Amino acid sequence: MSRPGCSDPSTVYPVIRAGADSLILAAPAKLNLFLEVVGKRDDGYHELETLMVAVDLFDTLELRAEKELSLRCEPPGLPTGADNLVIRAGEVLRAAAGRPDLGAAIRLTKRIPTRAGLGGGSSDAAATLVGLNALGKLALTNKELAAMAASVGSDVAFFLTPPVAWCTGRGEVVSPEPVSRVLDFVLVCPAVGLGTAEVYAHVRVPAVPRRGDELRAAVRSGDPEAVGRALFNRLEEPAFALAPQVRRVRDRLLALGPCGAQMTGSGSAVFAVCRSRAEAVRIATAYHAAGPPDHTDDRVFVVRSLTP
Ligand code: C5P
Repeated sequence: MSRPGCSDPSTVYPVIRAGADSLILAAPAKLNLFLEVVGKRDDGYHELETLMVAVDLFDTLELRAEKELSLRCEPPGLPTGADNLVIRAGEVLRAAAGRPDLGAAIRLTKRIPTRAGLGGGSSDAAATLVGLNALGKLALTNKELAAMAASVGSDVAFFLTPPVAWCTGRGEVVSPEPVSRVLDFVLVCPAVGLGTAEVYAHVRVPAVPRRGDELRAAVRSGDPEAVGRALFNRLEEPAFALAPQVRRVRDRLLALGPCGAQMTGSGSAVFAVCRSRAEAVRIATAYHAAGPPDHTDDRVFVVRSLTP
């Protein structure tokens, strides 16, 4: 479907043409409502089954066509070279398309907390692929972009698809899931962050993996109570051992009466599934008001799942 202001109908998230040679893109965060580790691979990665949902907390990328690829972050402090996934994605696309001259001056406004399991870096990388594809008029298909995305990071391909998906493999094999209504969440990001590799290094691969059928059915029906009952994340156990404060965030949220609460991805952010936007606002306000001393730096957001 083509929408006014969108220059590339094959991508899900709007690409706004800000001028003849510049674009603005919104890169959303994601939540993992289910995450099971089903095996460990010879290359060190883990085989996953996970249900991911994009939510309305966004980084913004502004791309202006240039010969070189460069990155500026606001606020400053993040890496702006090859250790930033934006630059990695740009380099992968330039090489794959055989267009070393296709560059951009990229300004990244960072709002999604890092080291939180929210996929912000991966989403920025996906937006970079989409943006350079549009800016360079390369007309690469989503399938071609997804192959590049997988070489940048396990979560990147998800951000090229509709906003709810069942992901397998390392997380890069993405199957869109139908959804019937939006879900409302409270999101809490504790001051402590967690590194993905470290959390995976401590995970125990279960003899009998949990199945995600119940959660998938709950998301399809759009019933927040059923979603709350079926939440699961295998990475909670190692993350809670590495950062006990994350468990306390989860327990504090649960005590405020949502349908359920769980850490997202490899943490450290925790979300609560709420019955309505009004309930999410109530729980977020109560969480803020009653914080013990080690929770005063927690950042609290009210977010909603994106619709296709
Ligand atoms: O793919 P990505 O670069 O995001 O992964 C970061 C790290 O997380 C990997 O180097 C690996 O240690 C771990 N990981 C994993 N299994 C996955 C995804 C990530 O072990 N499916």
